[in-house]
Parts: sequence; structure tokens; C-alpha cells
Amino acid sequence: MIKKGIILAGGLGTRMSPLTKAVNKQLLPLYDKPLIFYPLSVLMLAGIKKILIIVNKGQLNQFKKILPEKNNLGISIEYKEQFKPGGLPQAFTIGEKFIGKDSVSLILGDNFFYGQSLTKILKKNINLKSGAKIFIHPVKNPNLYGVATLDKNKKVINLIEKPKKIKSNLAVTGLYFFDNKAIEFTKKLKPSKRGELEIIDLLNFYRRKNKLKAEFIGRGGSWLDTGNINDFYDASNFISAIESRQGLKIACLEEIALNNKWIDKKDIKKSLDFYGKCDYSKYLKSLIS
Ligand code: TTP
Repeated sequence: MIKKGIILAGGLGTRMSPLTKAVNKQLLPLYDKPLIFYPLSVLMLAGIKKILIIVNKGQLNQFKKILPEKNNLGISIEYKEQFKPGGLPQAFTIGEKFIGKDSVSLILGDNFFYGQSLTKILKKNINLKSGAKIFIHPVKNPNLYGVATLDKNKKVINLIEKPKKIKSNLAVTGLYFFDNKAIEFTKKLKPSKRGELEIIDLLNFYRRKNKLKAEFIGRGGSWLDTGNINDFYDASNFISAIESRQGLKIACLEEIALNNKWIDKKDIKKSLDFYGKCDYSKYLKSLIS
């Protein structure tokens, strides 16, 4: 059972410059919440209460203002700094102490997941005993992503980063479940041509040992990578459309914590003071009235 999760919330956000020159991408507003709320909500939906957030050196205080270690969400938040963006697998060496002897989930700070069956899919896979699991979603332009080919038991038989020849349209999303070997395997990785440790190389370690499986996010689910301006605003519009039609919020952290019975009315009241008078607080009030 995975009980710990890491959010990678560093990166330079070059593709979104100048927006990301002064503010980290994960703190930009995705419609009505900071982007980081969305990946955090996914971990919380999976039932994960122990969270490590990895941020760029020098940006700790910005993050702690919105997600303090002592929070009203019933979860434990720790922070670590990444000296410079050296690739996604660095999460496992930076987070080595946090992970200890356990298995762990990794989610990229700029990935957005949504869908009716999302919680069910997460809960079904959280019992990972050994190996690694990726979550995949069909895309129109597979040449922009890491792409997986599966056998009929959803074992990954091939995994290629940005393939020139397209064999599969199943993109690897930014959510991963790993057993404890991720730390040891990461230490064996060599930087790629672009000078970074590559998550695909780490996953291929598992694949070669027949220990990499995949799960579909499913047709009813959405996965949006918010790495460039167009995708960012598409995701923002998507959230705005769903929230205004349904009157329900996506990634309201307090709501998830309340449903998980990690917090009670008293904690929601503390959150009302924390956020002040705003629509988000109005929504929180409606949860307890
Ligand atoms: P990327 O999209 O690869 O990088 P980026 O966000 O810096 O954007 P750009 O390519 O425009 O410069 O990163 C994916 C996510 O992982 C993003 O949320 C940032 C995070 N990340 C880290 O925290 N540390 C890292 O070393 C890398 C490579 C990414």
C-alpha cells in the first residue's frame, strides 16, 4: 500500500516565460486555484496523507504561504529544495529520507487529472506490492510524449520517449507508483544528452525486469499537461466550464480531506480564516452548512 507521495514542483517553466520568470509555474492560477492544488488533490484522492513537495532552491517561502507544513488539510507536508532541475528521477534521491523503506507515488506538479472513475482507478492501484505502475492516456500527437506499448495483461513491453515512428498512441502521464527500488535504480541512471536524468530510463529499468505495468486513465477521464500557454489556458477553461455548470469545485483540497474524514467542521472554519473572503471560502462554507 502506497502511503507517501512526492509532488515535483520545481522546473524552470521556460515554455511559459515570461509568466514563470518571477513566479513558479505551480503557483500560477489554473482557473481559480494555484496549479499545485490539482496534483495534490490527486494524491489526496488516492488516500495519501504524507506528502513531500520538491521546489526550486529559493522558492520555499512562496509555496509555504499557500501550503504550510502545519495546514488545515489533515495531511503532513514536507518540503525539499532541488538545487537545479536535473530531471524527474531526482525526486527519489532528494526524497530518499522521506521515502525511507516504503513505496511511493510521484506526480508532476503541472499535471491535471480529472474524471468520474479517477478515485476508483487510484484506489485500485494503490496496493502496489512490487514494481512500478504508470498511468496512460491516449493522445492525438504521441510524438510529443513518452509512449507505451502494452501486452494484454497491461504489462509494458515497449517505452519510447517522443517516438518518430508511431507504434502506439498511449502517452505516459505524470503520475507514477514505484516500489522502494526506485531509489536504487535512480542512483544507477546516467544523464541523457540534454544533461538530465530521464524518467523513461528509470521506467525502462523496471520494464527490463518485467516489473512495469500500466493502468488506463480511461475514456471518461481527462489528463492535461499544462506545460505550455495554450494547454494551460485550455485546462483553465475546462475547469471553469465544469465548475460553473455543476456548482462543484475540482481539486478543493478541504472537500477531499473532509470526505476522507481527515478533518472536520472546525478545520474548515480555520481554512475560512486562512483564505479570507473569497469564492473558494464561500464554497467551503457550503460544505459545512
Ligand atoms: P518539465 O515540463 O519537463 O519542465 P518545466 O516545468 O521546467 O517546463 P519547461 O520545459 O517549459 O522549462 O517538467 C515537468 C514537471 O516537473 C514540472 O511540474 C516541473 C517539474 N520538474 C521538477 O520539479 N524538477 C525537474 O528537474 C524537472 C525536469 C521538472
